[in-house]
Amino acid sequence: MSVDPIELLGRRFVEAIVAAFGSEFAETDPLVRTAQNPQFGDFQSNVAMGLAKRVGRNPREVAEAIVEQAALNDVCEKAEVAGPGFINLRLRGDALPRLLEDLEGVLKNSEHPTIRSKTRSSWASGQAARVGVDLVGVNIAKQMHVGHLRSSIIGDTLCRVLARVGNDVIPQNHLGDWGLQIAMVIASLRRRGVDLDRLDLDHLEAAYRDATLDCKADRQALEAARRINAGAHRIAEWEAQVAGAEDRLDEAKRTLVRLQQGDRDIVSAWEKITAITMQACYEIYDLLDLTVTEEHNRGESFYRERLGPVVDEFIRSGVAKESQGAIVVEIEGDETPLLIRKSDGGFLYATTDLAAIRYRLQELRAQRVIYVVDNRQRDHFRKVFEAIRMIGWDRLPGGGRAELRHVAFGAVCGPDGRPLKTRSGDNIRLKDLLLEAIERAGAIVRAKNPELPQDEQREVARAVGIGSVKYADLSTHLIKDYIFAWDRMLAFEGNTGAYLQNQYVRIRSIGRKAPDGVRADAPFLVSAAEEKALALALLRYPGTISSVAETLEPHRLCQYLYDLAGAFSVFYTQCPVLKAETTALRDARVRLARLTERILGDGLGLLGIRTLERM
Ligand code: ARG
Repeated sequence: MSVDPIELLGRRFVEAIVAAFGSEFAETDPLVRTAQNPQFGDFQSNVAMGLAKRVGRNPREVAEAIVEQAALNDVCEKAEVAGPGFINLRLRGDALPRLLEDLEGVLKNSEHPTIRSKTRSSWASGQAARVGVDLVGVNIAKQMHVGHLRSSIIGDTLCRVLARVGNDVIPQNHLGDWGLQIAMVIASLRRRGVDLDRLDLDHLEAAYRDATLDCKADRQALEAARRINAGAHRIAEWEAQVAGAEDRLDEAKRTLVRLQQGDRDIVSAWEKITAITMQACYEIYDLLDLTVTEEHNRGESFYRERLGPVVDEFIRSGVAKESQGAIVVEIEGDETPLLIRKSDGGFLYATTDLAAIRYRLQELRAQRVIYVVDNRQRDHFRKVFEAIRMIGWDRLPGGGRAELRHVAFGAVCGPDGRPLKTRSGDNIRLKDLLLEAIERAGAIVRAKNPELPQDEQREVARAVGIGSVKYADLSTHLIKDYIFAWDRMLAFEGNTGAYLQNQYVRIRSIGRKAPDGVRADAPFLVSAAEEKALALALLRYPGTISSVAETLEPHRLCQYLYDLAGAFSVFYTQCPVLKAETTALRDARVRLARLTERILGDGLGLLGIRTLERM
């Protein structure tokens, strides 16, 4: 059941249209909108204009037929047809109070379902499904850098929203923890005799860089040296470089084979490296209040035994074929095929993703899998998804196909509009960035509210710092690159996390300051235009959450919360609450404020942003 009058009336309109003109019109958009001019009512619909041609009657007649059929009188006064065929609707006086009570009931029943819980929330709007969410995806032996920020926080929000509308959500952290890169690092650390028990992530990351350089043969330099006849000494130097790099790459490949075969020493080195990296990751998850935990780790290593069988099945089914010793899947309309086994027998990133999809669909029984991954991997996912469709692993037991969807996002950029880096051109470490956010927020909070006790200041700094970074990210259109600008994201005015957190605190203090005599269940009274606007904004909340679950676009929730906070501000400046003319009005307005507080807090919670008592 919807509590949003626009949605509610829209549905009744469609029913009326079907009753009047037949079931072939069941998909009509009822076009119910807020009225341009409140003089004519609260809502209007121009649906008759478009329908007229299709049913071969004039718009006015069509409008009258709809109004005649529509069952609206529990929500609206009698609908009026105006001008050439506009339909004007005016809410009944008791409609908004009743819907607001329903909304309170909906919130009360939402049991804050945990991710991966068996119990479904009573909020289920559409069909409940099992949804896999691929998020974070850090690579072992490297720090989390700002590139992982978006996958983590967008993925986290989507998990929360999908769970809220009743899905069984299964987060999957597709760690880059297997393959030649890792073997290179292990080989390099062993060659240098590094004690793995005393290694930290900084050293590990340095080792990663060294290993990559060690194995990189600079053939171009050698050729150039030969071409310009740089002298026997120079040429010999480059020859040695190339030969050395080739040796080390061979060594890394041998190490990989040993890793794959389960060699005790190599596997133990791999485990240590993984543990060091993950420990640092978990610290960041904590800092970010992510819902994903260790139990959601399904790294590339998890699929290692499944890669061979996956390729075999692709061959057996005829979907893949041999091409110059390699195994490829040709994708219609694509020039380059999807490579799933190299001619040397090695598997690829794509092979692992095919195995992961099979696991998620067939073993985890997901009906929908969403990939919160950088837009640069768009072609990769398009091809992988197509290959899955070709082999039919997305067929659902009950018929139909599972949905595979890449939720692609743009880059986080520096002031120059290029992907954000440190001055020396390195990736910015996510931890440094988050700590800086907290520090900056702390300075602002201390200046604004010096009386706040120290430990509370720290708590506020953390909530505001992290919240601001998250909100700046979530409130932009996914696919857009955005510029990371401290001043803008930490501002207390405008569409920012800090603004909403601050509004929450202010609204909450109204409820707190209310005298004891205020009745929590006093009837809602909605008469002033500002009260009405606030009520309508509140009633849009469940629909907004459903739309985020459907479109997978968190910025819709941000925009909604910002609009709601705005509607509240207008209400609060125009309608005295604690000093209202009568106690009935005062109590009704306190109840409205408390409902706003509740929804604002709930919405921020879905964005993974903390709320505070004071700030
Ligand atoms: N580790 C990958 C990277 O850093 C991201 C993994 C994304 N998920 C996936 N199923 N491929 O690019």
